[in-house]
Amino acid sequence: MIALSLAEVAAAVDGRLEAADPAATVTGSVEFDSRKVGPGSLFVAFPGEKVDGHDYAATAIQAGAVAVLGSRAVPGVPMVLVDDALTAMGRLARAAVDRLPELTVIGVTGSSGKTTTKDLIGQLTARLGATVAPPGSFNNELGHPYTALQAGPDTRYLVMEKGARGIGHVRYLCELVPPRISVVLNVGTSHIGEFGSQDAIAQAKGELVEALPADGLAVLNADDPRVDAMSGRTGARVVRYGEAPDADVRAEDVTLDERGHPSYTLVTPEGRASVRLGLTGRHQVGNTLAAAAVARELGMPLAELATALGELGLVSTRRMDVFDRPDGVTVIDDSYNANPASMAVAVRALASIGQGRRTVAVLGYMAELGPFESDGHAEVGQLVAELGVDRLLVVGEPAAPIHEGATAVANWGGESVLLTDQAAAVEVLRGELRPGDVVLVKGSRYRTWEVADALRADAGSEPVRSARSELASPAVATEGGTE
Ligand SMILES: Nc1ncnc2c1ncn2[C@@H]1O[C@H](COP(=O)(O)OP(=O)(O)OP(=O)(O)O)[C@@H](O)[C@H]1O
Ligand SMILES: [Mg+2]
Repeated sequence: MIALSLAEVAAAVDGRLEAADPAATVTGSVEFDSRKVGPGSLFVAFPGEKVDGHDYAATAIQAGAVAVLGSRAVPGVPMVLVDDALTAMGRLARAAVDRLPELTVIGVTGSSGKTTTKDLIGQLTARLGATVAPPGSFNNELGHPYTALQAGPDTRYLVMEKGARGIGHVRYLCELVPPRISVVLNVGTSHIGEFGSQDAIAQAKGELVEALPADGLAVLNADDPRVDAMSGRTGARVVRYGEAPDADVRAEDVTLDERGHPSYTLVTPEGRASVRLGLTGRHQVGNTLAAAAVARELGMPLAELATALGELGLVSTRRMDVFDRPDGVTVIDDSYNANPASMAVAVRALASIGQGRRTVAVLGYMAELGPFESDGHAEVGQLVAELGVDRLLVVGEPAAPIHEGATAVANWGGESVLLTDQAAAVEVLRGELRPGDVVLVKGSRYRTWEVADALRADAGSEPVRSARSELASPAVATEGGTE
């Protein structure tokens, strides 16, 4: 964060100083986990049912925190007192980014691919200037200000993921950290149980372009009609990306190699260039086009852009993470999250990598589909069978419609089994996997990722640990984060 005196912090959050020197200055990070506090930090104490951050206030001061932002006084601790620490943290983020005129804020939303595309954009902007785009989702009312508060005077680009569970959520996040470039990827069906309809999801996602200033830029997916229609909801310039022939930044001649890595001709108003991605899955064509549209706007020349796209890698864990085990089994760990659209792209990636090899899909329950739950799962199962996947392991009774959807497809040569839990899936895999097999592991968060970890461990690798921490939040302990 930029340096702010406690008086400035208090003014920004409408707080009251208690036992604190108004001239003392926060020069370090803003943290809500006392273990991350260092010299010059501001510690934010959230009242929680299980863990109350105020209990760690003194520890934070000992670790070097200048003060504690919280809702009740702690004896002997310099405090910035507010009614609600979460709201205050959001206001502090706004005050901090308002003091950074050189900063360009890029917001990304959509039903699927936000974290992935945020990571891609961050890798491109890092070539242009100092960038804040931390791994993970951090897309809600806590993660958002937390991320924004990492921007300092040298930061040129802040890439933010904007999630929504309802109407008004993205608008609120944009009030905290207003974007100058807004990227909308797609309107799918994740959290449709809460939204009610895809049109409502489109309404919520489009708030990202409504928040743009007149000199801002909306980067919209021309291949998704609901996203394309958002051009009417902003006064800012619009750049359309996709495979539509009239898209401004588009891909032509898309091909996939045997590892599922796409190649295409990138076509922009400046000309054409060949792009060969090291990322897995056809869906990365659209994600990289969105990132390209942003980098182009920020001045990256076409030739450099094409090279940079080819050098993009994975940043956040458990998203299309493909690895080969020494025994010749290829694993696609896509176990961070799942909704019908992301299941579809992952199963397609399995089919393309698995050409000429035996394919195995380990699929878990997709949460929060509401009335679409049964059909959403069944359609995934149907796709698995239609693509000719050889073996389907469905994990957990709630995911049973995947199994039913697959077995209902006549003439499918593959085999499906419904298993009680992840341990059962691991046991089946250990018995069945042979060199050359390709395995996809996917589900909503923790519901399948132990399977991916077991597949790693069998190959002698460490389990992936960071994903759980993405959800960690003492105050807003939502299991799922936001969409
Ligand atoms: N453009 C896309 N369209 C459909 N599915 C995609 C797209 N990009 C990525 N995915 C799939 O979605 C999965 C989740 O990706 P990612 O974590 O980037 O999404 P997210 O929108 O950030 O999700 P969350 O709502 O959990 O934060 C990926 O692992 C991949 O299977
Ligand atoms: Mg995410």
